[in-house]
Amino acid sequence: MNTPSENNRGQWGSRLGFILAAAGSAVGLGNIWRFPYVTGENGGAAFVFVYLLCVFLIGLPLLYVELSLGRASQRNPVDAFKATRPGSPFFLTGFICLAACFVVLTYYGVIAGWTVGYFIAQITQTQLDFAEYTANPVAVLPVFALFIVGTIYIVSAGVEKGIEKWSKMLMPLLFFLIFVIIVRSLTLEGASKGLSYYLDPDFSKIDGKVVLMALGQAFFSLSVGWGLMITYGSYIPKSQNIVTSGFWVAIADTGVAILGGLMVFPAVFAFGMEPDAGPGLTFVTLPAVFAQMPAGWFIGALFFLLLSVAALTSSISMLEVPVSYFVDKDKGARKTSAILVGVFAFVVGIPSALSFGASETLTKLELFGKIGFQGIIDQVFGTLCLIVISLLLSLYVGWVWKPKNAIREIEEGCPWFTKPFAGAVSLASVWTVFIKFICPIVITLVLLDGLGVDLFGDAAATEAAKPE
Ligand code: PHE
Repeated sequence: MNTPSENNRGQWGSRLGFILAAAGSAVGLGNIWRFPYVTGENGGAAFVFVYLLCVFLIGLPLLYVELSLGRASQRNPVDAFKATRPGSPFFLTGFICLAACFVVLTYYGVIAGWTVGYFIAQITQTQLDFAEYTANPVAVLPVFALFIVGTIYIVSAGVEKGIEKWSKMLMPLLFFLIFVIIVRSLTLEGASKGLSYYLDPDFSKIDGKVVLMALGQAFFSLSVGWGLMITYGSYIPKSQNIVTSGFWVAIADTGVAILGGLMVFPAVFAFGMEPDAGPGLTFVTLPAVFAQMPAGWFIGALFFLLLSVAALTSSISMLEVPVSYFVDKDKGARKTSAILVGVFAFVVGIPSALSFGASETLTKLELFGKIGFQGIIDQVFGTLCLIVISLLLSLYVGWVWKPKNAIREIEEGCPWFTKPFAGAVSLASVWTVFIKFICPIVITLVLLDGLGVDLFGDAAATEAAKPE
C-alpha cells in the first residue's frame, strides 16, 4: 500500500478526492455509451423521466446504504456484512458484488478499447466503419488489452496515489469538452426533432420493461448495487459528510448522462439515423458530429481520449472491488491480485470482444430477449444482478443491520441528518422509510414484472416503443 492510514488499507486524501473518485467511478461509458442507446431502445424521453425518478428515489438512498456500510465496517463488500452482523448469510451478497464487478469489467474493457481505437482513428484522421471495426479481432483485441493493462497499473498504485490523483485531473476537462460538443450537436440542421424525442415524454411508452431497464441503468450508472460504494465508502475518513458527498456524486453522474443524450440525440435525428440502433449509437453519431466541426478531428481525438479516461476511472473501480477483498485478507496482495484478476478479466472478456461480428455464433447467440454474447451478459450482470444486489442491500440495512446503525454512521460528519427540518421530520426518518419499505417494495415489483411478463418483456416492449 502506498497510503499511510491507521489500518493500512488506504484512505482518501481529501473530501474532494473522494467525490471525484466516486464521480469518476460513476461517470463513464454508462453515461455516454450505454445511457443514450438504452434510452433509444426504450422510447426516449419517457425513459429519461423514469430513469430520473429511479436515480433520486431509489439509487440515492441506496448510495447512502453502501457508503455507510462501508465506512462503518472499514471492509470490502463481503466482510462488510460479516463485520456488521456476524453469522448472517447476507455476506453472500458480497460475493455477488464481486462477481458483478468482475464480469462487467470483462466487457466494459472491450467497449473502452473501442474508445481507444476511435481516439487513434481521429488522430490519424481515418474514417472507421463501426460494424467493420468492431468485427475485426485484430483491431479490437489489442486496444482491449491495452486498456486492461492501464487499469491494472492504476489499481496497483493504490487508493490515493492512483485512483484519486487521476480522477482529480481529468474529470473537469471531460465536462468542458462535452459542453463544446453539445453546442455543435444542437446547432445541426434538424436537431430539434432529436431534442423533442429526448425531452418531450410520451408517457404511454412506459411499461414494465421500460421501468426495469431504467432502474438497471440508474444502478449501472451510479455505480450503486455493485458493492463498489461499500469499498469506496470504507476509504472515507469519519469526519467527512457522506450525505452531501453522495449527493454531488449523483448530480455529477446524472448530469453527464443527460448531457450525453444531448450530444447524441440531436445528431441522431439530424443525420437521419435510428435512435434504437443499439450499442453502436454513440460511436456512429459522434464522429459524424466531429466531421462538421472546425478542427473536428482534433476535438474528436480529445473527446475519445477523455472518454477513455472516464472509462478508466470506472474500470479501476470495478477492479478495485475484487482486489479490496484480497487486500483485506493479505495487506501485501494489492499488486499481485490486481494483475491476476485483471489478466483473468481480459481472458474472460474475449468472447464479448468477438460478439460484434468476429464470431458468428457469439454474435447471433440469443437469450433473455437479447442478441449477442455481450448483450446477454450485460442483461444478466449489468442489469439483473444489480437489481438483486440492491434489493438484498436494502433488506439487509433496513431489517437486519438496522437503519439506526447506518444513521449513527452517517451522522458522523453530517450532524443535521437527524435534525428535523422545518416541520417535524428529519432526513434520517425519510431515508429510513425508503430503505425499509419503498426501495425493497419497488425493486421487487419491478423485478417480478420485468421477469414474469415474457421474460424481460423485450419483444413486446420494443414494439410498444415504436411510434404508431
Ligand atoms: N458507473 C460506471 C459507468 O457509468 C460503471 C461502473 C459500474 C463502474 C460499477 C464501477 C462499478 O460507466
